[in-house]
Amino acid sequence: MMYFNLNDIEGFSKIYRLNMINSITGYKSANMIGSRSNSGIENLAIFSSITHLGSNPALLSFILRPNTVPRHTYKNFKENQVFTVNHVALNQIEDAHHTSAKYDEEISEFNQTGLTPEYKTDFLAPFVKGSPVQLGCRYLNEYDIKENGCVLIVAAIEHIFINKELLEDDGWVRLERGNVMTINGLDGYALPKLNKRLDYARPNKISKS
Ligand SMILES: Cc1cc2nc3c(=O)[nH]c(=O)nc-3n(C[C@H](O)[C@H](O)[C@H](O)COP(=O)(O)O)c2cc1C
Repeated sequence: MMYFNLNDIEGFSKIYRLNMINSITGYKSANMIGSRSNSGIENLAIFSSITHLGSNPALLSFILRPNTVPRHTYKNFKENQVFTVNHVALNQIEDAHHTSAKYDEEISEFNQTGLTPEYKTDFLAPFVKGSPVQLGCRYLNEYDIKENGCVLIVAAIEHIFINKELLEDDGWVRLERGNVMTINGLDGYALPKLNKRLDYARPNKISKS
């Protein structure tokens, strides 16, 4: 195995370290956050740090990079508290990735890609049409990460749209049926294949499928 100590890590070039550290902790969720400013400008950006924070109440969180440059997603949901989370499907990879480009605030990524905004249930923020799982979220709180200037955003999941064929009887969402992508690092997109689901784990008993 290759071995790197802290000295090595600190000595890596910026891009090498960024690639390694972004991919080393494992596959990440691939989502696009849709938002809209109070002046009506739509915004869409890809995020790989969205994860559920607890199911009762239904919460999610994500990491926002340091606010050293304008962050349009952040600005928008600070204005009106709402945003959408939309899974990236196989046929959306290139467009989803392109939403990370630094466009000016008045330019909507929906106009720079083939992705189409979709408005539902009177929710102010746009969903992404064709995304197999779409969540309407309400900003609740933020926590500064003192070590690097990132911000942890906490939000409530208030609306859930799931393609019917993904939803199993027990509530479990079989993402594979929607060709939902996962992210390896900052630019690797992978299509996971389900291996098995296992019984609830109990002491002294290996779970079965
Ligand atoms: C694969 C991928 C994952 C990303 N994940 C995050 C993330 O978790 N947090 C973040 O702040 N930026 C992330 N970014 C960068 C944002 O997509 C990028 O900064 C975008 O321009 C933000 O748009 P906004 O200013 O319109 O909000 C990611 C970029 C890529 C390509």
